[in-house]
Amino acid sequence: MEAKNKIFSIIQGFWGSQCLYIATCLGIPNLLEEYGAQSVESLAEKTETHTETLYVVLRGLAHLEILEEKPDRVFAPTEASSLLVTNAGPSIGHFALHITEPCQWDGWKELYDAVHTGEVAFERANGKGVYEFTRDNPWSGDVFINAMSFLTDHATEALMAVYDFGQYETVMDVGGGQGGLIAEIVKTYNCKGMLFDVPYVIETAPSFLESRGVPKDAIALHTGDVFEKVPTGADAIVMKYFLSAWNDEDAGKILARCREALPDHGKIVLLQSIVPDVGEPTVCPDGIMPGLFAVQIRSAVPGGVWRTLKQYQEIFANSGFKLDRVVHTSTNLSAMEFSLA
Ligand SMILES: C[S@@+](CC[C@H](N)C(=O)[O-])C[C@H]1O[C@@H](n2cnc3c(N)ncnc32)[C@H](O)[C@@H]1O
Repeated sequence: MEAKNKIFSIIQGFWGSQCLYIATCLGIPNLLEEYGAQSVESLAEKTETHTETLYVVLRGLAHLEILEEKPDRVFAPTEASSLLVTNAGPSIGHFALHITEPCQWDGWKELYDAVHTGEVAFERANGKGVYEFTRDNPWSGDVFINAMSFLTDHATEALMAVYDFGQYETVMDVGGGQGGLIAEIVKTYNCKGMLFDVPYVIETAPSFLESRGVPKDAIALHTGDVFEKVPTGADAIVMKYFLSAWNDEDAGKILARCREALPDHGKIVLLQSIVPDVGEPTVCPDGIMPGLFAVQIRSAVPGGVWRTLKQYQEIFANSGFKLDRVVHTSTNLSAMEFSLA
């Protein structure tokens, strides 16, 4: 019976995540946070939705303990719904929206065929990759940037507690998004910072960094294409959830550009979830399952691969780097420190 229950639970998983998408997209957590508990009629009026259909969705979420249902079809906020608020800075709500928005969902519908052909399911469905899609669609782009900033906030505090960036003079975050990670590194360890990403993302960095209390000019901003050139000037390059977006060949090209940008004593600190090898624990301390996340990445990102430690060691070794140490954190993120072989 236990095995059957497990299968029921997996089948129901996407119903829950779609209800989460609908409620978050409608701003239900925002409304509950701002106005407190209220009837489904009031929520339907504010969100211009069909009361009875909205009720079924919200009740489902109450049964999943995301909302609380009180008598007379009144819904109240919970600790979980507060975390999903999307109008007060990056939150797990943005991550939920990014992962479950229609373009991703369309990609999952294509995964069955992609398993036969090896194509990227997201591209089959949308005619372009995630990065192009988010660049071309302002709503998705905004959600994506905030989702990445949330993931950074989620992992950063735990990382700062166990990895000493104070050993470096200048740290550069390659593919660093709005700069949430480099901001914390600079603030915590007082080293110089550099942030490198594509132009449309870097455009959003100055106001974001200001909101994080980073002194003006403490972080040098660079735009460009990592396949062409990585800026020089850092003795450590960090890459968080970045290399996993590329296949081994592209990862090799990125590492070659990093090699050109680093001094001989330079290091690469790779920040990723590590997919466990057979027999190792499959769930991270924060509940993330890297082996399942790997399916999402594979279906969404051209060449996207979440790797095992051995696989990372291999692609770095092919590019002339050796693994010095691995530092695990209390989230799904681990730091793999590489130096020149
Ligand atoms: C998966 S996100 C990770 C962002 C950030 N490191 C984090 O952990 O939140 C990948 C980042 O790489 C950037 N990126 C994608 N292609 C790039 C390229 N060719 N050159 C530089 N940055 C790129 C994206 O804009 C995005 O910010």
